[in-house]
Amino acid sequence: MIHKCLFPAAGYGTRFLPATKATPKEMLPVLTKPLIQYGVEEALDAGIHTMAIVTGRGKRAIEDHFDISYELEHQIKGGSKEYLLDEIRSLIDQCTFSYTRQVEMKGLGHAILTGETLIGDEPFAVLLADDLCAADGAGVLKQMIEVYEKYQCSVVAIEEVPMDQTDKYGIIAGDLVDDTNDTYRVTDMVEKPDPKDAPSNLAIIGRYILTPDIFDILKETKPGKGGEIQITDALLEQARQGKVIAYKFKGRRFDCGSVEGFVKATNYFYELGQQ
Ligand code: UTP
Repeated sequence: MIHKCLFPAAGYGTRFLPATKATPKEMLPVLTKPLIQYGVEEALDAGIHTMAIVTGRGKRAIEDHFDISYELEHQIKGGSKEYLLDEIRSLIDQCTFSYTRQVEMKGLGHAILTGETLIGDEPFAVLLADDLCAADGAGVLKQMIEVYEKYQCSVVAIEEVPMDQTDKYGIIAGDLVDDTNDTYRVTDMVEKPDPKDAPSNLAIIGRYILTPDIFDILKETKPGKGGEIQITDALLEQARQGKVIAYKFKGRRFDCGSVEGFVKATNYFYELGQQ
């Protein structure tokens, strides 16, 4: 079973400046809910109750969001707006939240390694809150846990992207696993390759199930693309041993780290609420 979900949330969010100057990117709201709340709901839907969040300077609002605000609750108690806090209150009741700080932003791989102290020696989920996912049935993490239970190794969520966008993602090469059309055994992975060097158009999105040996691999992983410690480079070590599955998830993903993706997500969830 997967008991814990790690949320790397220490990045600067430079694509969203100036909004992210004093507000964490993960707290930007799609309609009335901040991105990270959608992520916590997805993890809970997958049966995970322990949320481990890697934060950094200027991210205090995340901790306050997943805490009770006595003054506010007292103020609106018994009034017509009390129900607006029901969802977040229910999350707080059902989950535990723990935090650690990434002191220097050395990349996603480094942020995940920083989370080791909260995760320990067990397989765990990783969710990047700025990749907002919507699925008709089971949520993306829930789908991935089923895949993990079958193959008992690391799992990355993938989607097909236009070939001219491979330089924005980790891209995999892999062989379809027998009798499936959505599950690959990964043979190679490259971080943000130029389209001419990309082994496919299958891009890793912000959902992972990782086995805990990834921490020892990350400790040995040298800075890669952009001078950052890349999770893709560490996963390649596992892939060389045949221990990474890529899963083409069912659902939609919005890149809410970009303005265009954020607007699309806002429109999508607004339309959904009107139905
Ligand atoms: P991004 O590549 O989206 O970077 O990180 P960013 O800083 O958040 O945003 P931009 O590109 O400057 O606009 C992917 C995920 O990894 C986390 C981010 O918080 C985000 O969830 N991350 C990245 C860290 O936690 N630490 C890092 O050092 C780098």
